[in-house]
Amino acid sequence: MTSARAVILSDLETGPELVSVTVDPPRAGEVHVRMAASGICGSDLHLVHGRSNVTFLPAVLGHEGAGVVEEVGPGVTTLQPGDHVVVAMSAPCGSCGPCSRLQPHLCESADRGLQVRGLMPDGTSRVHRDGSPLHPFVGCGTLAEHLVVPEGQLIQVPDDVPLELAALTACGVITGLGAVFNIAEVRPGHTVLVVGCGGVGLSVVQGCRISGAARIVAVDANPARLAVAGRAGATDLVDASNEDMSEAVARLVPGGVDVAFEVVGSAALVGELFDLVRPGGTCVATASYPPGSELSIKPQSLFWDRRLRGCVAGNSIPRRDIPKIMRLYQRGALDLELLAGERWTLDSVLDAFAAAEQGRVPRAVVTM
Ligand SMILES: NC(=O)c1ccc[n+]([C@@H]2O[C@H](COP(=O)([O-])OP(=O)(O)OC[C@H]3O[C@@H](n4cnc5c(N)ncnc54)[C@H](O)[C@@H]3O)[C@@H](O)[C@H]2O)c1
Ligand SMILES: [Zn+2]
Ligand SMILES: [Zn+2]
Repeated sequence: MTSARAVILSDLETGPELVSVTVDPPRAGEVHVRMAASGICGSDLHLVHGRSNVTFLPAVLGHEGAGVVEEVGPGVTTLQPGDHVVVAMSAPCGSCGPCSRLQPHLCESADRGLQVRGLMPDGTSRVHRDGSPLHPFVGCGTLAEHLVVPEGQLIQVPDDVPLELAALTACGVITGLGAVFNIAEVRPGHTVLVVGCGGVGLSVVQGCRISGAARIVAVDANPARLAVAGRAGATDLVDASNEDMSEAVARLVPGGVDVAFEVVGSAALVGELFDLVRPGGTCVATASYPPGSELSIKPQSLFWDRRLRGCVAGNSIPRRDIPKIMRLYQRGALDLELLAGERWTLDSVLDAFAAAEQGRVPRAVVTM
């Protein structure tokens, strides 16, 4: 058993807390990782504010992390101590209906169902506080010094990629780039609209730049984040705190954009964006939306063959996509440092949460 510190959420009133936990040794097919870094994603903030109900409480926060393999359980063949790994949000089973239909991002295995609730495939947890189980958020719980996950959830990354940058690929980057490459299929010359420039939206902007989009209109209500969007490749910036978004976009791109990405998490904005897409164009609801919220779009807008697409972590397959993302980073096409900005230690994790809430950094990164 290993003692560790972890950031947990027991109830919404108390909020995130840094506490001591114990982590069990890895069982068959499992791996113990000494964590190096974790980002704080908008989805962690949704959990903290009661806007998400996927994982049981008390939960270990964080789902965007990387570290070094400490110990492998019996039967683990693909990893060994010392390997650098990213903790992936999914490990498709390969044999369920969606996996058989070559849609592993929709894997509906029992293991995945347990994972998102914060349980291992055997229905138990490897992390405890005072003897009671804690539930790693979406099966990750990366805001911790140590964790144990199934082997399939770990993607090895090159040793020379800083782990605090590799961590960001697990959620924000894979979702943003996946929305561009796997869902919208942005083409050279396209005109795109990206609303919301947090870690996910800034990754969408970079994916559009990499895909050769001719015009990238970025919108945010936070001027500091908009400035980063400009550095990430946006060609036009709209400050939603003092401009009407629809008017500004209609003026910039009169015929509508080829693709619009909603990356805030507002159903009302998805409806508004749908009308800013050209006939035949695509709107990608890239964020997560509060349970129970409803979407309203005009059937007349739909008539003109506009498409509305959902997005589950960029419809990505971590084992395929994280190595691709690493190659984009290594050849200088993808700027991960631009996303990371300032780092916090675990001792000051509550300041990191405050910075993430206030949008003071593109992505708050906590190093262990
Ligand atoms: N679909 C998925 O699988 C998936 C994966 C990861 C994250 N998400 C979701 O994506 C969303 C974005 O994540 P993030 O980590 O980038 O969040 P974030 O909180 O860092 O960024 C959200 C951005 O939206 C901006 N914003 C807020 N209101 C706005 C408005 N009215 N107009 C314009 N901009 C506005 C904020 O200033 C902020 O920069 C969240 O909802 C998150 O839960 C979804
Ligand atoms: Zn996330
Ligand atoms: Zn499956």
